[in-house]
Amino acid sequence: MRALILAGGAGTRLRPITHTRAKQLVPVANKPILFYGLEAMAEAGIKEVGMIVGDTAVEVQAAVGDGSKWGLDVTYIPQAAPLGLAHCVLIARDFLGEDDFVMYLGDNLIRQGVKDFVDRFEVERRQFDPAAAHILLARVPDPHRFGVAELDDNGEVVQLVEKPADPKSNLALVGVYLFSRAIHAAVAAISPSDRGELEITDAIQWLVDHDQRVRSEILQGWWIDTGKLTPLLEANRLILETLERRIDGTIDAESRVEGRVVIEAGAVIEHSHIRGPAIIGAGTRIVHSFVGPFTAIDENCQILFSEVEHSVILARTRVDHAGRLEDSLLGRDVEVTRSTVLPRATRLMVGDDCQIDLT
Ligand code: G1P
Repeated sequence: MRALILAGGAGTRLRPITHTRAKQLVPVANKPILFYGLEAMAEAGIKEVGMIVGDTAVEVQAAVGDGSKWGLDVTYIPQAAPLGLAHCVLIARDFLGEDDFVMYLGDNLIRQGVKDFVDRFEVERRQFDPAAAHILLARVPDPHRFGVAELDDNGEVVQLVEKPADPKSNLALVGVYLFSRAIHAAVAAISPSDRGELEITDAIQWLVDHDQRVRSEILQGWWIDTGKLTPLLEANRLILETLERRIDGTIDAESRVEGRVVIEAGAVIEHSHIRGPAIIGAGTRIVHSFVGPFTAIDENCQILFSEVEHSVILARTRVDHAGRLEDSLLGRDVEVTRSTVLPRATRLMVGDDCQIDLT
């Protein structure tokens, strides 16, 4: 069993952050989203990973390296343009060979990992008349934003439609798929969709239309497609809730740190109040400030005379006399300042290297 991880794509729905960085490398609880996927592959016992990369290849490669940090062997497969998920399978043909594989969208986060899902597929593949593919589904309130599945009474897939205007169910395709080599004929046979992409949803439908069995499983824990601000903050909240309290930084006697909080080595908390769940990165200074629940502040930031809650702040950013920030995503090397403190809260989504004066 191999893995194909998709880490290309433009990330248009997370601009401006993704003007300057790969959407899969935006951190959730101070760890790039993509790393959770790599951890899930390692946990599932997979060694060989093909990683599809696009315009942000250099950055992804710098972050992931050869994969040995996770005990993985990562092979990079460049995709010249974002031509769809099925196109990724097409260009990974040589890497995948005849093996079964798990395809994982690098911006998806799944609470329960993928080990059980992969194990069940491997057992089934050894049995008589195994399914050609196994898909993971989640019940969602907004199925028109996803690939949507219609099932028969045995949980086998009858029909799959990509982003239907009139969804036949509330079962969305989660970005983790298990395939046998049967998928290669399917991705070679389909045509681009209206959005000009080779859709994996259409390739799976092709299998169904050609009398191949496609089984499905409904996900129990949470799943988040992190590609937009609200789900990204939601993922940050859910991951922070799973952290164990750990204080490796310095807290002065005037400060209070409550609940599930991680303070990394070299972080300094002075005259401040941190209420978890929250994580404060290495080398970050929090001075005369309040950091509220569900906040992740990355390394070497400065939060001075400000309040931050339910937000993600990337490395080396300075927030100074900024009043109260809520539901915000700030890029790297951002400066947010205000000389007169106003009583209301501010909501910001700011790309890297910006200066914002809130006066
Ligand atoms: C893709 C798939 C879609 C799936 C979704 C999961 O959508 O095409 O079927 O439900 O990922 O994240 P996209 O992110 O390309 O809009």
